Amino acid sequence: MAPHPFPLRLGFLASHDGTNLQAILAEIEAGRLAASPRLVICNNSDAMALRRAAAAGVPTCHLSGRTHPDPEALDEAILEALRDHEVNLVVLAGYMKKLGPRVLAGYPRRVVNIHPALLPKFGGAGLYGLHVHEAVLAAGETLTGATVHRVEPEYDRGPILAQATVPVRPGDTPESLQARVLEQEHRLYPQTLARIAAGEIDLDHPPESPNATARETD
Ligand code: GRF
Repeated sequence: MAPHPFPLRLGFLASHDGTNLQAILAEIEAGRLAASPRLVICNNSDAMALRRAAAAGVPTCHLSGRTHPDPEALDEAILEALRDHEVNLVVLAGYMKKLGPRVLAGYPRRVVNIHPALLPKFGGAGLYGLHVHEAVLAAGETLTGATVHRVEPEYDRGPILAQATVPVRPGDTPESLQARVLEQEHRLYPQTLARIAAGEIDLDHPPESPNATARETD
C-alpha cells in the first residue's frame, strides 16, 4: 500500500541549547523536510533555543512554573498554545520537563522525543545529559547512539521509531561521547521526521524493529 503523506505542523518544546531544533529548522529551510514549524515553547526564558527560533522567524513562547505555578494550569497553557498554532506533531527537543497528562491526552501518539542512547538501554529517570554517557562508559558498552521514539507517560518509553549507532572508542569521555552522539542526533531527528512526513513511518503503527543505521563517525 502506498504511504500516506502526513503534512507536519510542528510544535517544539525545548529547554536549553536547541541544537536539535536548529538542525530540524535547517532541513526545513533547505527544502529537505516537508514541514511547517509553528511554535517553539520553552520553559527557560533565557534558552538559546528561543533565540534560534526567533532568528528563524518561528513564533516562540515561554511557559514554565514561573509563568504558571500550578502544574495543571501549565499543562493546559501548553496544550492551548499548541492548539492555537494548529500543531499536529509535538517534537520534544531537549525538553527537560515531564509533559503533563493534558498535552499527552490532547496529542495521542503525536509526541516524539530524541534520547542520546540506544533505548531501551540507558533510559529512564536520572538518565539525561552527561549522565547517559557516563552510564554507557561505566557499563563498558562498545556501541551507543541515539533513539527517536514516540512519547508515552513514562520517561523514555514508547515505541522506537528510529536509531543511529555510534561506536564507543577507547579513551572516550562522557563529553567526547556526548559530542559524537549529538552529531548523529542532528541527522537522525530531521531524517525521522521526513520519514513521518512521507508516510514511511506510521505513528499509529510504528515499526516493530526499526533499523539501526550504523554510522561510523570517522
Ligand atoms: C540531546 O542530547 C537530546 O538527545 C536530549 O537533550 C539534548 C538536547 O540537546 N533529549 P539540544 O538542546 O538539542 O542541543
